[in-house]
Amino acid sequence: MAPDSQKTFYLETFGCQMNVHDSEKVIGTLMSEGYRQVSTVEEAGLILYNTCSIRDKAEQKVFHRLADYKKLQKQGKKFGVLGCVAQQEGDKIFERAPHVSMVCGSASYRNLSAMLVQIEAGKQRVTGLDDRETDECFETEFTARTNPHRGYITIIEGCDKFCAYCVVPFTRGKERSRTSDSVLSESRQMADLGYSEVQLLGQNVNSYKDPAGKKSFAELLAAVGEIPGIRRVRFTTSHPRDFGRDIVEAIDSLSTLCNHVHLPVQSGSTRVLDAMQRLYTRDQYMERITWMKAARREISITSDIIVGFPGETEDDFQETLSLLDEVEYDSIFGFKYSPRPNTPSLKLEDAIPDEEKARRLTVLQERQREIQKRRNQRHLGQVVEVMVEGKNEARGQWIGRTSQNKTMNFKTPEGIFPSTGSYVSIMATVCLPNSLAGEMVI
Ligand code: 5AD
Ligand code: SF4
Repeated sequence: MAPDSQKTFYLETFGCQMNVHDSEKVIGTLMSEGYRQVSTVEEAGLILYNTCSIRDKAEQKVFHRLADYKKLQKQGKKFGVLGCVAQQEGDKIFERAPHVSMVCGSASYRNLSAMLVQIEAGKQRVTGLDDRETDECFETEFTARTNPHRGYITIIEGCDKFCAYCVVPFTRGKERSRTSDSVLSESRQMADLGYSEVQLLGQNVNSYKDPAGKKSFAELLAAVGEIPGIRRVRFTTSHPRDFGRDIVEAIDSLSTLCNHVHLPVQSGSTRVLDAMQRLYTRDQYMERITWMKAARREISITSDIIVGFPGETEDDFQETLSLLDEVEYDSIFGFKYSPRPNTPSLKLEDAIPDEEKARRLTVLQERQREIQKRRNQRHLGQVVEVMVEGKNEARGQWIGRTSQNKTMNFKTPEGIFPSTGSYVSIMATVCLPNSLAGEMVI
C-alpha cells in the first residue's frame, strides 16, 4: 500500500444521532492521527462503517456493504466495523467477513488511536469490545463537526433500562453521564465558534446524573440555554419513566429551550407496555402529555411506536391508534417489531406475520397523517422564527427549521438572501402534513 493511501479513510454512518455524533468524534480522532477523510471507498486506505443494530434490516446493511467492497482488499485496503453491530457481533464479524481488520464498539473508541497504530504496524485483527462496563465517556477534543451552526453534545452514554425489545443496553453498555462542567465548557466553546444551536444527546437524557452532583438534567438544560450566543437547545431522547415536570417548567421559563419533546411511547396498550418492560402505564404516559399541553408555550410532541410486538392483539393495536388520537402528535416514527440478539423479548415467540405487522404499520401511518394534516393547520397565519438551513434552487425556495423542529420552506422579498445559520421570521401560508411553507416577514 502506498504510504499516502495508508493515511486516508472513508467513513459511512448508519443509525441514530448518537452514531452520527460518534462519527464526528471518530473523524476528529483519525485526523489528529494524520489521516485524511475522503468521500469514496476507492480513494481510501481505510474503510470504516459505523453501524446500527436496532433492527435486523439496519444490521444487514453493513454486511451487504462489506460484501460489495470485499474485492478492494486485494488493493491493500483495510476494513473496520465500528458501533453497535461491532459490539454485538464481536469476533464473529471476522468469520463472516474475513477481510475486516478492526472491530470496535462505541465504548472502546477511547482506544481508537492505539488500535490504529496496531493496524498500521500490520496487525491482522484488532478488536475493541470489552469496555461495556466502563465508567468513562468518549470525550475527545478532536470532534470534527460537519455543520457550522448546530451541533451535538453527548451528555450521557449507554442505557440501563433494558426494554424487552431493545439491543442498546447490550451494544452501548451501562449508563454513564458526563459532568455538567464538561458539558457546559463544550457548549461555551461551541458558542465561541459561532454555533447557535446545540442538541444534547443520550439514549435516555432524562436519567442524566451529574457525576459531580451539581445539576439535574433540567438545570443543565437551562444552563446551556443561558450561554450567550446559544439561541436554541434541543435534547433527545427522553424516556417517559424519567421525564420530569421540571423539564416542562424549564422550557416554559427559557425561550432558548426549543418547544419540542420527543417522548417515545412505543405502544398505547398498558398490557403491551408491561410486556415491553417500559416501566410506565398508558395513564402515566398521558399524565406527562398533560403537563406538556398545559405549558405556556405550545410544545410539539413526537414519538416512536413499535407495531407487532409479541402478543400484541388487534385490541392492543387499536389502543395505540386511540392514543394517537388523544395525544395528537406532531409526528411519529413507526417500526415493525424486529427480534434482536440478547434482548429479553427474543424468548417470546415472534408470531405476528410480517404482512400483519406491515398492515398495522400502514394503518398507523395513515392515521397519523390525517392527524398531521388537520393539526398543522393551526400554524396558518402564524409568524415563526426559523433557522435558515439552505436553499432549494430548483424550487426557488429557502429551507428553514422552526423551534418545534418543523421544516419551513419559504420565499423572501426581492433582493433578500438570508445566510445559512441565520434566523428569520416567516409567516406560514401553507400547512402540509410534513412541512410548512410561507413568506419571510421583515
Ligand atoms: N424492533 C423494532 N423497533 C425497535 N426500536 C428499538 N428496538 C426495536 C426493535 N427490536 C425502535 C423504538 C425506539 C426506536 C429508536 O427504534 O421505537 O424508540
Ligand atoms: Fe442503532 Fe441504537 Fe446503536 Fe443508535 S444506539 S446506532 S439506534 S442500535
